[in-house]
Amino acid sequence: MAGTAATSDKVTTATVRARKGGTQRIAVVTAYDVVFARLADEAGIDVVLVGDSLGMVVQGDRTTLGVTLDDIVYHTRIVSRGVRRAHLVADMPFMSYQASVEDGLRAAGRLLKEGRAEAVKLEGGVEVAELIRRLVAAGIPVMGHVGMTPQSVHQFGGFKLQGRTDEQHAKILADARAVADAGAYAMVVEAVPQRLAAEITRAVPAVTIGIGAGPDCDGQVMVMHDLLGLEPAWKPRFVRRYAEMGKAVSEAFAAYAADVRAGKFPGPGESYD
Ligand code: KIV
Repeated sequence: MAGTAATSDKVTTATVRARKGGTQRIAVVTAYDVVFARLADEAGIDVVLVGDSLGMVVQGDRTTLGVTLDDIVYHTRIVSRGVRRAHLVADMPFMSYQASVEDGLRAAGRLLKEGRAEAVKLEGGVEVAELIRRLVAAGIPVMGHVGMTPQSVHQFGGFKLQGRTDEQHAKILADARAVADAGAYAMVVEAVPQRLAAEITRAVPAVTIGIGAGPDCDGQVMVMHDLLGLEPAWKPRFVRRYAEMGKAVSEAFAAYAADVRAGKFPGPGESYD
């Protein structure tokens, strides 16, 4: 098709679904701008998520609740300019879908039309099943999100592991089943015991993407800032750092400031005749 940007190995919902239960797990990372989106895409990340973690890691809030639909549309749009191969998913922010199914349909529509997302992610279980059904019927792929759902932080009394009690375990399993039955192609499973994540992964046909949920999910997601060590003081148990960029960036800024103060920058090769 003329004008298509898709490459032959483009990751799609079909590609993601095909990895269910396979030996090759799915690598998902968040991104919020074009530079990191391009780096993630070129490094072979399968799915780039414009998460509402934006509120915490980019906007500096304590929760994700303040993120607006306009924020996610804007960041998804700029991330989309860096993504060629990866599958691009946009988060539906708090109160863009909780009040009515119609709100949710319109919000998701904006994320695809204006943001250029290829799927939306939303939090919840049984209570969002009808919305997921309607979105899928409208041609909008849905990634669910169960377990410790950050938009319910005040309900949980903090960002706490969920699913330890029998009651929570049964509820989260029922939520995962409802999300999958409603037609979600994938779901994030966040901050639950490894045993529960494994049970969900066996129980549902949708692909499971874990975060703080152990190694048995079909894939893993990490917030970019955690993976890259951009916030050196933040190191929860479920995070593995693959770089110490916070430290490297601080050192670079300090070296630049020292050179400027000492008159060592710019040098002869960095100036024009
Ligand atoms: O907002 C986000 O970045 C997320 C991931 C952590 C799954 O929901």
